Amino acid sequence: MANILITGTTRGIGLGLVRTFLDQGLTVYAATRSEAHADALVALGATHGDRLRPVFGDLDDEQAPQRLLAALGDEALDYALFNAGIYGPSHQDPAQIDTRATGALFTTNAITPLRLAQHLAPRVVDGGVLGFTSSQMGSLALNRAAEMPLYGASKAALNSLLRSWAERSAPLRHSILALHPGWVQTDMGGGQAPLTVEDSTQGLARVIQAHRGHALCAFLDYQGETLPW
Ligand SMILES: NC(=O)c1ccc[n+]([C@@H]2O[C@H](COP(=O)([O-])OP(=O)(O)OC[C@H]3O[C@@H](n4cnc5c(N)ncnc54)[C@H](OP(=O)(O)O)[C@@H]3O)[C@@H](O)[C@H]2O)c1
Repeated sequence: MANILITGTTRGIGLGLVRTFLDQGLTVYAATRSEAHADALVALGATHGDRLRPVFGDLDDEQAPQRLLAALGDEALDYALFNAGIYGPSHQDPAQIDTRATGALFTTNAITPLRLAQHLAPRVVDGGVLGFTSSQMGSLALNRAAEMPLYGASKAALNSLLRSWAERSAPLRHSILALHPGWVQTDMGGGQAPLTVEDSTQGLARVIQAHRGHALCAFLDYQGETLPW
């Protein structure tokens, strides 16, 4: 049976993805910030046994790639999904943001996913899939981030780094997917969001698995629709 590494799995979309892939029989490496906030994740271990393999630690740490590689041991990955993200300051105003908050936002949302992916890609099987939870807010063409410009800019930076990496890596051995999960009922998405975590994660799981064996770079939503960069 296949396996997947998922980041940002204490809650929200990441926790939902862990549940979805465990229910489908995959082994899941769940990269999680801290055991102290991981009750819901740890509870999944009770029903899915050793197919759930938590790896604890802040993903922005410089040692995070080595920690994940050590957890994999000799295993190759079929899929990796870099999902962890933050919203940034609630004011979303470039005039107010300080250097520390700027660094945290762009590091977590854009740099860390690429750092981890570049270290882990050699361990992903040929034809495997590397997915990144982006957002339609990162689309320059759609221009939908007026109310959340800092967050949107961090996802645009993620998309830009993905496209540059894909270009440098041609011909691709894997699919590299920027994925918009929809507007989802999570701590980040809020209670008025139209989509449940389950609807989003089941769609994302279908999209990721449908790209097994296709070596391409694309920006897709949770229903598989192409989004403009
Ligand atoms: N919800 C939406 O409508 C929506 C729409 C478009 C895109 N997205 C994207 O989807 C992804 C998941 O969003 P969500 O709504 O599920 O958010 P969420 O409920 O706020 O959960 C975010 C997750 O990321 C983890 N995380 C953040 N920084 C981390 C770090 N440095 N190290 C380890 N874990 C870290 C959090 O861990 P802790 O619990 O330890 O903080 C948490 O598990 C994000 O990339 C987000 O930008 C969401």
